[in-house]
Amino acid sequence: MHLLEHVQEPIRLALAGLVADPETYVAMVKPTQDAKHGDYQLNAAMSLAKTLGKKPREVAQEIVERLPLGDLLETPEIAGPGFINLRLRSDWMAARLREIARDPRLGVAPAAKAKTYVIDFSGPNVAKPMHVGHLRSTIIGDSLIRLLRFLGHTVVGDNHLGDWGTQFGMMLFGYKNYAQQKGMDKDPVRELARLYVLVREITKPVAAEEDDETSDKPTKFTDEAIQVAKIVADAARKETSKLHTFDEENLRLWNLFIPNCLEDLKPIYKRLDIQFDESLGESFYQPMLPSVVADLQAKGIARESQGAIAIFLDEKEPPSLIQKRDGAFTYTTTDLATIRHRIETWKPDAILYVVDSRQALHFRNVFETARRWGYDNVAFEHVSFGSVLGDDGRPLKTREGGVIELGSLIQEAVERAGTVYEEARQEALAAGEEVTPLEVGELEAIKEAVGIGAVKYADLCQNRTSDYRFSWQKMLAMTGNTGAYMQYAYVRNRGIFRKAGALVAKYRDDPPAVILAEPHERALAFQLLRLEEYLRVAAAEYQPNFVTSYLWDLSKAYSGFFQNCPVLRASSPEIRESRLLLCDLTARTIQKCLELLGIRTVERM
Ligand code: ARG
Repeated sequence: MHLLEHVQEPIRLALAGLVADPETYVAMVKPTQDAKHGDYQLNAAMSLAKTLGKKPREVAQEIVERLPLGDLLETPEIAGPGFINLRLRSDWMAARLREIARDPRLGVAPAAKAKTYVIDFSGPNVAKPMHVGHLRSTIIGDSLIRLLRFLGHTVVGDNHLGDWGTQFGMMLFGYKNYAQQKGMDKDPVRELARLYVLVREITKPVAAEEDDETSDKPTKFTDEAIQVAKIVADAARKETSKLHTFDEENLRLWNLFIPNCLEDLKPIYKRLDIQFDESLGESFYQPMLPSVVADLQAKGIARESQGAIAIFLDEKEPPSLIQKRDGAFTYTTTDLATIRHRIETWKPDAILYVVDSRQALHFRNVFETARRWGYDNVAFEHVSFGSVLGDDGRPLKTREGGVIELGSLIQEAVERAGTVYEEARQEALAAGEEVTPLEVGELEAIKEAVGIGAVKYADLCQNRTSDYRFSWQKMLAMTGNTGAYMQYAYVRNRGIFRKAGALVAKYRDDPPAVILAEPHERALAFQLLRLEEYLRVAAAEYQPNFVTSYLWDLSKAYSGFFQNCPVLRASSPEIRESRLLLCDLTARTIQKCLELLGIRTVERM
């Protein structure tokens, strides 16, 4: 149930007889900032007054008189110049909560019109260890998949792996010149990564501008280093182009490398609970590229220019190359082939690209080309995001200035979560609190859930388009808008049921009557009823931070309730039952929202 839409319904009826276009004014119903002014407020009377040539208060009065209150609304109050304060009836709220308690979907209706989405996310370049730059794409993309699926849409999550790019030239060159058989026998994944890093290191003095990992390096290199870099970079480029023209030896080696590269990614995705429906990397599209270029030329969208083939979209912008002079295809060509394949295979309504904002121009060009190519009834969306910054406000790096590998970042998160947990346990013991010893394996599960949850939550709670500073201390805090705080709110809540010896099933199968007599009970109930409202905004804007905002608002309402409304020592058995229901529903809602963010809950911590 979308609470806001529910409240808008009688408003629409009231306005229908007053104005020709009620929708503009219906859209002005907004939740209030302060419960003093009711739950929702309508500020339409002021602008309507001009149209109708009446005084705002008069208009407000007229709307209120026409408003069918039903069992939904209390008689509204008119405040100030003509604000209409709408207040839900508590008995109506109580009845809805009781229904929602029975519903595994927690009252969230599936979308009226289910759509098909393809989500392009994660997309690491597999020749190198996955780094923190792919973290955002991976967790934002995963969260959007979970959210859209929960809302009833069909989603194909596709990992557009960089498995054909220039890094393979470096790896091929490295392998041919510096590979150590011992290393290959023992741990080919590490050995290949070493070779890649080695060649990248050698070629650093001449690294291309767009290499995000090397671009802000100081440029103090000796002439000799620059000479060597030039030679090696050139040789690596030749290896890439030999691969791209399907040179037998390079293709054989590529086939040898790929399984190792993919193996390297698996444990990271597993630990992060990330699943893909498809992992069609760039290499998958290679056989299709000549036909893409030919088709774009035939349709007059691309043309020859100085020996290359390019698309000219805008006089002012540089053209996008789809085939270079030496015959090589580009990142753009692959993305165009990918679009054709996705549309033919899944017939999506929308394709979302969860990719760094620095690729905005690339996607603008690709989308515009695709529309000219005839794919104009599909929504293309660059779901872009900013950078993860270090303490110094610059892109996050290791202390030595290197790239942070995702594997070690996750490991550190888990270890730090362990430390935080241990400290909290010691504190509780020192304070004489009872601390239940954990079962075997439970501590490990808690550390994983809290550590990885902290990293994900800290990322997802940002407005994705901005950069944010990575701070262990903030993300692992047990208070405030953090993953750990939400997980703890869940655990504390479960603890009530353990203490009461009450089984949660009862509050779901045969829920007791809900009593909303105290303001804190009512405030919590209001938040519980607003879940769909937030989720739909999160999905429409592709912004998981609306899910975290919801959790934050819910957890504040819950903590007000928890501090002011005794549950186990409630003044009557009926109130106790009602409050236990509110607790259970809160726990389920927190758990569901965390699940939509890809964050686990544990039963104790
Ligand atoms: N591999 C690319 C990179 O790391 C990201 C791929 C994004 N998806 C796409 N369809 N271009 O920059």
